Parts: sequence; C-alpha cells; structure tokens
Amino acid sequence: MPARDNMCFVIAIDGPAAAGKGTVAKTVSNHFGFAYLDTGLLYRAVAAKTLLGEDPVKAAERLDLETLNNSNLRSAEVANAASKVAGIPEVRAALFHFQKRFAQRPGGAVLDGRDIGTAICPDADLKLFVTAASEVRAKRRFEELRENGAFIDYEKVLTDLKARDARDMSRQDAPLVAANDAKIIDTSDLTIEQSNERAVKLTQMALDDLYQ
Ligand code: DC
Repeated sequence: MPARDNMCFVIAIDGPAAAGKGTVAKTVSNHFGFAYLDTGLLYRAVAAKTLLGEDPVKAAERLDLETLNNSNLRSAEVANAASKVAGIPEVRAALFHFQKRFAQRPGGAVLDGRDIGTAICPDADLKLFVTAASEVRAKRRFEELRENGAFIDYEKVLTDLKARDARDMSRQDAPLVAANDAKIIDTSDLTIEQSNERAVKLTQMALDDLYQ
C-alpha cells in the first residue's frame, strides 16, 4: 500500500545491536513507502567526530546530515564509541529534535534505534522490538565484518557486543528497553525473509486497525 499524503504513521523499531532491526526497518519503509531514519547513525557520526578530538556535545549540536554518509561510521571502533557518547544526556538532548521532526514527516516514517518507542516516539502507531540471542547476533556481526575485510575473531566480537548491550541497557538516560506496548520479534531462529515478513504483516495489521 503506498503512503497517503495526509498520513502520519510512525513505526518505532528498537533492539540491541545486530538483531536485524535495520533490515526489518528498511524492508518496511520500502514496502509501505515510508521515510526511514537509522538513528544509530546519528550517534555514530557524533562518535566519529569525538574520536577525531571534537567535544561530543558540540559535535551533536553541530551535526550535519552530510556526515551521516561517511562510510567509516560502520566500523567496530565507531560503534563502541557511539555507545559511549550515547550515555551523555546532553548528546541525547541535542539529537532529540532532529529525530522528533523526522517522525512527523507526512506520508509516514520508520525510525530504528534503542529508545524510539520509549523516549523519541512514545505515541508511535506501531512499536517493534527486534532482538536475538547474543551469540547469534555476534555471529552475524562477525561474518559481516569479515566480509568487509576486517581481521577480527568471533570471541572479541561477542565480548564487544555484550559490553555494548550492557552499556546501552544500563545508562540513566533513555536506556535500551522494550516499550510495554512493543511487539517482540525474536530473530534468533528466523531467516531474514521470515523476520521481514513478520514485520510487514504487523505493520499491515496496524494500518488496517487505524485506517479501515
Ligand atoms: O544501532 P547502532 O548499532 O548503529 O547504534 C550505535 C550506538 O548508538 C548504540 O550502541 C547505542 C547508540 N544509540 C542510542 O543510544 N540510541 C539510539 N536511538 C540509537 C543508537
């Protein structure tokens, strides 16, 4: 179903690293014609500037969209640094309005991250929490990094991933947690196609509820 001009349908997709939320979010946004924002990129962009010596709060306040296209943002080093700067309340506050405005796009919007259903869009029309066992997620991330030419071992990927989960879940400000009204998709034993199918079906049901 194409997006309607007057529609303002918001889908919040949260979950831990490498659970498959980005894939699900892109599929749903393409299928329904909704705009898509990977909010992790905002924190990664701030982290990349911080690694170059910039103050994280100033980097968040001055963030320009050009930076989001930087291909280095996908590295493990930037991911770990992103999880650290994400614990700074002033960084989160500086990125809040951009995300909020994005969610109000006419035609519908999909945002994925850690706090979309709980802090950025608590009134989202549909909330999905995409998760998977940490060993499964580490294996996926390991294979992805290896395909991209990184020399890294699985144990290190698993340790980093668990540390990042712990940091994302334990921070004071907007920690990673499923919203009470989120629908859980556990992708541990699902193929990419099955995860996508589930998300598309849940979105269709939410749209039918709202518009029929
Ligand atoms: O989704 P990702 O792996 O690109 O996110 C990188 C880090 O950014 C993640 O470890 C925590 C932080 N993040 C956040 O705190 N809130 C979000 N909405 C998205 C990401």
